[in-house]
Amino acid sequence: MEETTNETEVAASSKSAKITVGIDLGTCRTAIMSDRGAKLLARSVVGYPKDIISEKMVGKGPIFGQEAMEKRNFLDLCYPLADGVIREASERDYKAAYELLGHLVELAKKGEDVEVCGIIGVPACASIMNKELLLTIAEKFMSKALVVSEPFMVAYKLGNLTNCIVIDIGAGTVDICGMKGTVPIADDQVTFLKGGDYIDERLAQSISRHYPGVQVTGSVACAIKEEFASVDGSKKAVVTLRHEGKPAEFDVTDDVNAVCESIVPDICEHIENLIQKFDPADQAATLKNIILAGGGSRITGLADMIVEHLGEYGEVQVTAVDDPEFIGCAGALKLATEIPEEMWSQIGVMFDPES
Ligand SMILES: Nc1ncnc2c1ncn2[C@@H]1O[C@H](COP(=O)(O)OP(=O)(O)O)[C@@H](O)[C@H]1O
Ligand SMILES: [Mg+2]
Repeated sequence: MEETTNETEVAASSKSAKITVGIDLGTCRTAIMSDRGAKLLARSVVGYPKDIISEKMVGKGPIFGQEAMEKRNFLDLCYPLADGVIREASERDYKAAYELLGHLVELAKKGEDVEVCGIIGVPACASIMNKELLLTIAEKFMSKALVVSEPFMVAYKLGNLTNCIVIDIGAGTVDICGMKGTVPIADDQVTFLKGGDYIDERLAQSISRHYPGVQVTGSVACAIKEEFASVDGSKKAVVTLRHEGKPAEFDVTDDVNAVCESIVPDICEHIENLIQKFDPADQAATLKNIILAGGGSRITGLADMIVEHLGEYGEVQVTAVDDPEFIGCAGALKLATEIPEEMWSQIGVMFDPES
């Protein structure tokens, strides 16, 4: 009897000594979830006070996420994850990525002194160098970490691992990945740069051309897009903008639609290329199993428009995921808890002090 109690205690204490996390490291937002119920989302931005006066106002910093955006007048903002992975990182990017990841891992620990292990999702085509750079950062906070491709995590979460194509429309990149029942290889994945940032930039240009004298910054365009993005004209976008400094209303529905639509041909071309790499016997099933994820999957009418573009291919079904903010991160956590740690090295690039 006593022995059983001891065993339970040992089990409980070893359980409490370690948490498992899933992390989705995005250009725009980073999400983290733990096996103890932590669930956090932050803008992937780190702010440092500009000077001694700013420091007096906001403290030494660093300041993270939304708070950094709100206090941006006082801060130098650093977006460490350009194009979804740490770009040819400058010292500053590296430091900011390090601080951002450390901050989120700390929050996920909820003040407990525990060991952290977990899986980090990055864009499908992140180079080995970028993955390794990321791991050198992760090893500062985590006892064991694995880096895997993000669309794979989405597919894993959905339990949709074969005859499936995942399209992840993020801020920096669109990642498209064919799932064939195994961990995807480079040949099954493609990344291109027409993500949300591209849409914002094009939308700002389009509105300025349409209404000369109207001032539209990238962040205003982004806010308009997030509210009205559609490709079927179903959302009428009448917004207040400044014309030569004075506020006035403008109908930008056509601009929003045209710019959102402009990413569809590239997406379809990449689907067409990927589909040919599936066994011909599986192609019909795969075309009926196309998944849209990432923030850009919220563009109204996008799934139907992709179906329409692929009209020559027979029956095509495209479905947008319910929870694009957390699905990648939830997939990473699911993978981390379901696959024994000793097998992790088979599914991605990993850091493991024991190997
Ligand atoms: N309702 C929406 N319609 C269109 N785009 C959106 C919407 N909501 C968010 N986005 C865009 O999705 C992108 C962020 O997607 P996310 O998957 O979080 O990116 P990342 O993985 O690169 O961090 C941003 O460009 C954001 O503006
Ligand atoms: Mg993402």
